[in-house]
Amino acid sequence: MAQRAWRLLVAALLSAAWLTGCGQEPAKRGDGSVRIGVTLYDQYDTFLTELMDCFNGYVDARKAEGVDIVTVRQDAAGSQSLQDDEVAEMIENGCDVICVNLVDRTAPTTIIDMARKNDVPIIFFNRELVEEDLMQWDSLYYVGADAFQSGVLQGEMATEYCKAHPETDRNGDGSIQYVVLEGEAGHQDSIIRTEYSVDTMIQKGILLDKVGYAIANWNRVQARSKMEQLIDSSESEIELVLANNDDMAMGAIEAYEGREIPRENWPVIFGIDGTEVGLQAVISGKMAGTVYNDKDGQAQAMEALAYALASGKSLQYLDLPESVTLEDNKYIRLPYKKVDRETAEEILSK
Ligand code: BGC
Repeated sequence: MAQRAWRLLVAALLSAAWLTGCGQEPAKRGDGSVRIGVTLYDQYDTFLTELMDCFNGYVDARKAEGVDIVTVRQDAAGSQSLQDDEVAEMIENGCDVICVNLVDRTAPTTIIDMARKNDVPIIFFNRELVEEDLMQWDSLYYVGADAFQSGVLQGEMATEYCKAHPETDRNGDGSIQYVVLEGEAGHQDSIIRTEYSVDTMIQKGILLDKVGYAIANWNRVQARSKMEQLIDSSESEIELVLANNDDMAMGAIEAYEGREIPRENWPVIFGIDGTEVGLQAVISGKMAGTVYNDKDGQAQAMEALAYALASGKSLQYLDLPESVTLEDNKYIRLPYKKVDRETAEEILSK
C-alpha cells in the first residue's frame, strides 16, 4: 500500500513537472512540430517497457529524417483518475494525438469525451476497450493483438510438447496435472488466453487435470510467491505451468529455483510475450516455449498512425509492418507467433 502511494506521488510530481514544461512554455498546436503524448497504466510493466523502447526507436528514426517530433510520456501508476488528469494536461499542453494504455479498460469515457471536445485523436493500445466505446467517435483507434490467437498458440505448443515428451506426465497417470498463472482479472488477455490455451490442449486430445490457479497480475514477484504456495499446497506434483505472460513464467521458474527443486522434477513451463528475459529462458531451456507478442510491430504501427494523425496525413498509406492493415479504419492487430529455442535466438539477434 505504502509503495503504491509512493508511486502515485512520484507519478503526480512527474505530471506536474511536465505541465510546467520543465521550465519551458508548452508548444501550441499548429506550431509545425508534432506532439505525441503517451500514458501507460504502469511504467514498470516489462512488456510495455520493451514496447516503449521500440516506439522511441521509431520516433528517433523519424527525427533523423528531419521531422520535428516531440513525445511526452506519463505513468498512470495504476490509477484511472490520474490517467484522466494526465490526458487533460496533455490536451491542454498541445498534444496533437495521445496514445493511451488504459488503466481500466472498462472506463475510457472521460478520456473519450475530453478528446472529442478538443478534437484530439486517441490511439488506445494493449489494453482493449470494448467495441462500443471505440465506436463512440471517428478519431479513436486501437493498436494491439488478438488475445484469442495467443491462447491457441500457447495451447498448441504445450500439446506438441506433451506429445513429443511423454515423460511430461511424470506420475504416469495419463493426464497432465497443471496450473495456470493468470494476469489481471478483467484484462482481455488474461481471460481469453487462459480459456483458449486450456481448451486447445483438450481439443487436441491431451487429458488435463487442473490442480490450481493463481492471479498474479502479470507480475514476476507475485507469480513467484503464488507459485510457491501452489507447490506447497498441491497434493499432486505439478507437471505443467501455463502462464499468461513471460514475467509470471519467470516467477514460476524462480519459485522452483528458490525451493531448490532439481530440474528433472520441474514442470514444463510456457509463457507468452517473448520479452528479453523470456526469450533467454527459452534458450536456456528453463521455459519450454513462449508466444511472441509483437512489441516491435505494435510500436511501429502506433508510431506510424500517431504521426499520420498528428500531421494530417492520409491513413491510407500508413507505414505498417508487412501484411498488417488498419481494419475498419479503427483497429491494427499484429499477429502472434510461436517461439521455440531457434526462433528465440533469431528474435534476440535482430
Ligand atoms: C502482456 C503482458 C502485459 C499486459 C499489460 C499483455 O498483453 O502480455 O505482459 O503485462 O499486456 O497490459
